[in-house]
Amino acid sequence: MADESGFSKGLAGVVADATSVSQVQGEVGRLIYRGISIEELAEKSTYEECVYFSLYGKLPNQNELNKFNAEMKANRVLPKTVEAVIAAAPRSAHPMSILQAAVAAMGFDENPVNLKNEEHNIHNAIKIISQLATAVARISRERRGLAAVAPNPELSHAENFLYMLNGSKPNKEEAHIFDVALILHLDHDFNASTFAARVVASTEAKLSLSISAAIGALSGPLHGGANEKVLEMADAIGAPENAKAWVANALATKAKVMGFGHRVYRTMDPRAKVLRGMLEKLVATKKEKDTYETLRIVHDSMIEELSKTSKDYIWPNVDFWSGALYRLMDIESIDFTPIFAVSRVAGWSSHIIEMWRDNRIYRPAAKYVGPADVKYVDMKNRK
Ligand code: CMC
Repeated sequence: MADESGFSKGLAGVVADATSVSQVQGEVGRLIYRGISIEELAEKSTYEECVYFSLYGKLPNQNELNKFNAEMKANRVLPKTVEAVIAAAPRSAHPMSILQAAVAAMGFDENPVNLKNEEHNIHNAIKIISQLATAVARISRERRGLAAVAPNPELSHAENFLYMLNGSKPNKEEAHIFDVALILHLDHDFNASTFAARVVASTEAKLSLSISAAIGALSGPLHGGANEKVLEMADAIGAPENAKAWVANALATKAKVMGFGHRVYRTMDPRAKVLRGMLEKLVATKKEKDTYETLRIVHDSMIEELSKTSKDYIWPNVDFWSGALYRLMDIESIDFTPIFAVSRVAGWSSHIIEMWRDNRIYRPAAKYVGPADVKYVDMKNRK
């Protein structure tokens, strides 16, 4: 993919660093966190256990997990300064903009980075991972004109987030589905937001500022912002019976279909498979089935049509189904990408902590394509 100068647009195929946090196996559609497949973690683990696993590189024993859970819970309350930043934002602002500012504000009292003190860096990360969920719930409620709900230390991370968002405890099934969704979004090797986090952290900037940068990268529609766009697309299609014709038109006009395509996967994204399975179970218990049905037809028609072309490597990604799942939990589309951040913050933190063990600033080379010897023209002589 690189040309003779070593240049590869979008860094496609470039190996930028080594990591043992996670690996995307694009040809076979497999994703592993520290060697364990996401399917197995989704079936057997919890988000908290996966966060521990991701940060420390080993599965916790019961004592370690209890201590970790207690630390996550103890850090849920937001500092007043972060609450003030959220309160000061206009309700019209996108929650990702507010979240980026809120996470930067989480670092007002953060000490300068000490690469040698990994334990301290992990505790900083746990604080941000825990507080970020509270911030997302608070931003959403503020926008909806609702009073903030204080975290409940009786509840798990997933349950507590839904409780803070909706003001009522979720039922066991929905809490479990949400927990699995958090596991599935936790990490994805060198995706754009993780890379952004790593680039900023490689300058030895604070964790909060590196994570704030990652939130900016995640917000874009080509990355985490796609989940919100998928639901906008389903709404624009309007009804399942319009979906097939909509896909035909999208392909004919070369429009991008959100929730499809990936830089690394050349087959179905394994996260999309797990999410779809959960979505089908949840939709069977609900009256409203039109969004799912519309997306199902878009999904099937896209795969069918693309399989007849040279673009048969374009498959659905994680963002295709996640929004439909969250909508069935009565979550507004605008909150989908912040929810992605609620999970991915653990991956960003793990990458930074791993990288700081042997840090070197990211500073790639550029392929200069401008002129080499231009004379400066005085103002009076310019046209
Ligand atoms: N719908 C229609 N055509 C597509 C799509 C799509 N979703 N994705 C790629 N293509 C086409 C693209 O137009 C291009 O065609 P051509 O060669 O004729 O110009 C070809 O496939 C290669 O695409 P690309 O843009 O060079 O691929 P990339 O690796 O640079 O970008 C991507 C990957 C994910 C940004 C892109 O597939 C995309 O924009 N998808 C839609 C947004 C989306 O769902 N993003 C979520 C990504 S996964 C989870 C996450 O990160 O949040």
